[in-house]
Amino acid sequence: MGLAVVSGASRGLGFESARGLGAAGFDLALVAKDADRLQEAAAKLGNEFPNIAIKTFPVDLADSEATRTVIAQIQSVGTVEILMLAHGVMSEKMSKTLKTTDAEWRRVLAINLDAVFTLVNGLAPVMVENRNGRVIIYSACLGRMSGPGNTGGLAPYRISKAGVNALVRNLAHETGLGSRGVLVDAICPNHSRTDMGGPDAPRSAAEGAATAIWLATREFGAGDVTGALWEDKAVIDW
Ligand SMILES: NC(=O)c1ccc[n+]([C@@H]2O[C@H](COP(=O)([O-])OP(=O)(O)OC[C@H]3O[C@@H](n4cnc5c(N)ncnc54)[C@H](OP(=O)(O)O)[C@@H]3O)[C@@H](O)[C@H]2O)c1
Repeated sequence: MGLAVVSGASRGLGFESARGLGAAGFDLALVAKDADRLQEAAAKLGNEFPNIAIKTFPVDLADSEATRTVIAQIQSVGTVEILMLAHGVMSEKMSKTLKTTDAEWRRVLAINLDAVFTLVNGLAPVMVENRNGRVIIYSACLGRMSGPGNTGGLAPYRISKAGVNALVRNLAHETGLGSRGVLVDAICPNHSRTDMGGPDAPRSAAEGAATAIWLATREFGAGDVTGALWEDKAVIDW
């Protein structure tokens, strides 16, 4: 098994995604901002999966230069086969388009969208070269242009996730929609009990992460779909 990179791996859906990939036998490169919390997460996973290699890469993903440095470090430890991007921040409560500030806009877009670009741009080329890789990115139902919850508010967050959806669609086409060994997909985890989702969310973090783990490990053959937005192992409208 090759290396799976998981961002947001210190807690919540990223941690559960890393756990699923560890269970599948991948070595893990764990990325988050807080070094101590990330180390604790790595220790937990190490106890659970003593036979895989686990390394931590703390970085503020709002800092693209620091992110590029970490990308180079990750590349030196193994061949990346899975890129699971589960980091993210919610925007402030009152962040309607006409109320939000430049600083809040930049904070959320830098982490939720710019860092997604930087990590994909840095880590996915080797997948294309090897004709072997999967990119799975946590989007959100709040970023859809259809369906429920499309009612304004939380502008930086919603728009960052709409941007993630566009990036996924674009990259999937650029990499041949699965015909050249690389799969690229976005997921809606649904409202899950994490620090972001809060304690009253209907799903556990493990339930929220299940579709992402499935996308990383599923069999893919003729007629199967990639380049889509997924919820509960089914394609939904963007
Ligand atoms: N939970 C939900 O209900 C829900 C619903 C829809 C979509 N999502 C999406 O699912 C993903 C995971 O959400 P979650 O609920 O697991 O969130 P969470 O519990 O708040 O965890 C956020 C993760 O992102 C990392 N992170 C945040 N800012 C960072 C930065 N500047 N640099 C590096 N890492 C940073 C955090 O690292 P530190 O621990 O170091 O801070 C943490 O690992 C996000 O993209 C979110 O938008 C969640």
